[in-house]
Amino acid sequence: MKLLEDRIREDGQVLGAEVLKVDNFLNHQIDPDLMMALGEEFHRQFKDQKITKILTVESSGIAPALAAGMAFHVPVVFARKHKSLTLKDDLYTAEVYSFTKKTANQIAIAQKFLSANDKCLIIDDFLANGQAVEGLIDIIEQANATLEGVGIVIEKSFQKGRKLLDERHIKTVSLARIKAFNNGQVEFEEEA
Ligand code: G4P
Ligand code: NA
Ligand code: NA
Repeated sequence: MKLLEDRIREDGQVLGAEVLKVDNFLNHQIDPDLMMALGEEFHRQFKDQKITKILTVESSGIAPALAAGMAFHVPVVFARKHKSLTLKDDLYTAEVYSFTKKTANQIAIAQKFLSANDKCLIIDDFLANGQAVEGLIDIIEQANATLEGVGIVIEKSFQKGRKLLDERHIKTVSLARIKAFNNGQVEFEEEA
């Protein structure tokens, strides 16, 4: 998506060999107009799937997931990473290992917000090693719900997440696909 690639070129900062800082429009300050455009694009790509629910993980997934929810007019559920005072319901949980941080975290969604009738679209800000998405897929399976696809804002194609999803034949749409970082510059995959 050109709008997003331009914004990454403009405001993204490459940190080291494999991290992109986008705190100007996505991960700290949020550009609502850009989010809405991303949400519309996810809708265009998945509108034939009869999505009933958008799933993401707190915190950085929430902004693009909400934008998608506004385009589809369906509820958005974010998995929680932290124990919540008010979250006392029966939960679906999954372990998410972060290769970046070398820690395992539990994510949780209340069972009442996911049912066997749901057709789910997973949305996340980054696809790196794919562990957050795998955790959400695990939860969707526990609920006997259906996974219709995965929508990612920024994919780092050189990490293993994309391959994992392709191997499982999951429809994955990434609005920006980064092939590599070269001397602090972002190199995008050619658009199909
Ligand atoms: P994975 O889910 O794809 O396996 O991700 P990984 O463990 O590699 O990444 C851990 C966290 O870092 C995730 O956020 C992920 O979104 C984020 N991340 C991965 N690569 C990049 C990157 O190049 N730039 C930025 N800005 N973030 C990246 P999180 O810890 O779940 O945090 P949050 O959602 O609360 O921000
Ligand atoms: Na994230
Ligand atoms: Na993040």
